[in-house]
Amino acid sequence: MIVRKFQPTDLKRVYEIENMSFNQSYGIQIFQQLYEMGIGFLVAEEHDYVIGYVMFWLKYENQGHIISIAVDKDYRRKGYGTQLLAKAIGVLFLITDTIYLEVRASNTGAIEFYKQFQFKQDRIVPGYYETGEDAVILYLKSQRGHVSRN
Ligand SMILES: CC(C)(COP(=O)(O)OP(=O)(O)OC[C@H]1O[C@@H](n2cnc3c(N)ncnc32)[C@H](O)[C@@H]1OP(=O)(O)O)[C@@H](O)C(=O)NCCC(=O)NCCS
Repeated sequence: MIVRKFQPTDLKRVYEIENMSFNQSYGIQIFQQLYEMGIGFLVAEEHDYVIGYVMFWLKYENQGHIISIAVDKDYRRKGYGTQLLAKAIGVLFLITDTIYLEVRASNTGAIEFYKQFQFKQDRIVPGYYETGEDAVILYLKSQRGHVSRN
């Protein structure tokens, strides 16, 4: 398995994985736009087949943010998600010392997944999602403390 940068030719496959993973999809154009904006966008590939992705960026200049992560249903619980998230965290911690993300309160599997990275709960945002569901905001602080920008 390798983790590499997203390429535009991965778009259809990434969209397919997103569709099978979330009830509400971003839509293929959003992926394209985010890519063009220069966000962090990595894919996991097994035998030349994309099986997962992670998107992340720096919000408000200094706050790392995981936008989305998903692994193909047939490839879950094999450590691929962990490798993708570890890579995204590694990149973000080069430039900031705190990473935030939001997750549906009902998505207990993902919350467990984030906990193994020591993400902690920051707060709950009631009715955050279009369906009215609450979001759980999680954060992870770098163990290295202050990150130099020099
Ligand atoms: C969340 C997700 C990316 C995890 O990917 P994955 O490749 O299955 O994760 P890993 O195999 O690396 O899991 C590592 C550990 O996280 C925890 N974990 C992962 N999925 C879990 C689940 N559904 N239930 C409970 N714990 C889970 C376990 O501790 C697991 O270790 P184990 O398999 O040895 O028990 C994947 O389930 C997914 O794509 N879900 C749908 C999309 C989604 O919800 N994304 C997050 C939105 S915020």
